[in-house]
Amino acid sequence: MRNVTRENITEVFTGYFGPETDPRVREVLISLATHLHDFAREVNLTHDEWRVGLDFLEWAGRITNPERNEFVLLSDVMGLSSLVDMLHSVPETTSSSVLGPFHVSNPPPMPMGGDLKRHYEGQVVLVQGVVRDLRGNPIPGATIDIWQTAPNGMYSSQDPKQDIHSFHALMTADENGGYAFTTVRPVEYTVPNDGPVGKILDAAGRHPWRPSHLHFIVKADGFRSLVTEVFPDDDPYLDQDTVFGVRDDLVMKYVEQPAGTFPEEGFALSGQVPDAYAKVDFDFVLADG
Ligand code: BEZ
Ligand code: FE
Repeated sequence: MRNVTRENITEVFTGYFGPETDPRVREVLISLATHLHDFAREVNLTHDEWRVGLDFLEWAGRITNPERNEFVLLSDVMGLSSLVDMLHSVPETTSSSVLGPFHVSNPPPMPMGGDLKRHYEGQVVLVQGVVRDLRGNPIPGATIDIWQTAPNGMYSSQDPKQDIHSFHALMTADENGGYAFTTVRPVEYTVPNDGPVGKILDAAGRHPWRPSHLHFIVKADGFRSLVTEVFPDDDPYLDQDTVFGVRDDLVMKYVEQPAGTFPEEGFALSGQVPDAYAKVDFDFVLADG
């Protein structure tokens, strides 16, 4: 086509595909081009604005490295990561939520009742629950990969003072599908905002905060792996998570327990917690694989 116009350009684009194109690739690319063209027409995109967009992508590429992926962060703050999650969620199972960039591979195994808090200051939190299937049956042997921030709001990979595996662990559910461990309260923190994504947040008058949360990846043979996070119901950022990760079923309570009531056995900290502590009960429901 030599007479390309602002009206027919999307149709012309569609006509340029080769006959052997994979049908899904064709569907996705045509839809993407249709939305991009409509977007440019709708906002009457100027050359300067188009250039700003390309410079943004170039900066995101330059700042991206194995430890920091600015494109994933862009997807997160635009709500795309969460939308893709929700498009593929299975009703009645635990909602999935963003993975984020701070998961560390090969976390150290932690036995039932193990402790992540160690010498860190703060109230002890006892987290426990059961991994189940959609029919309510426990899933013995499910693995539960856990990670969170230290009380200074930093993940181990951001903080040279922490060992890389600090606040990371891999548990295996017992014969009843149960898991239990102790830790310290995670805290709210900001997503990295010193790069191009920070500029978008500034331009939109948005803050970079996430509510505090515990991250989990739960896996078991024959079931879909679940990547999720769990949030306390009293967090000030619960209704304004900058990456849109909060779902109703992922909100739980830190229930205060009186001093002197910490379990006398079964935990690495048994016999060492005379003070009041907090308890969190959270069960996971996995979808069939
Ligand atoms: C996180 O929860 O670790 C996270 C998620 C998305 C962007 C940045 C951090
Ligand atoms: Fe996080």
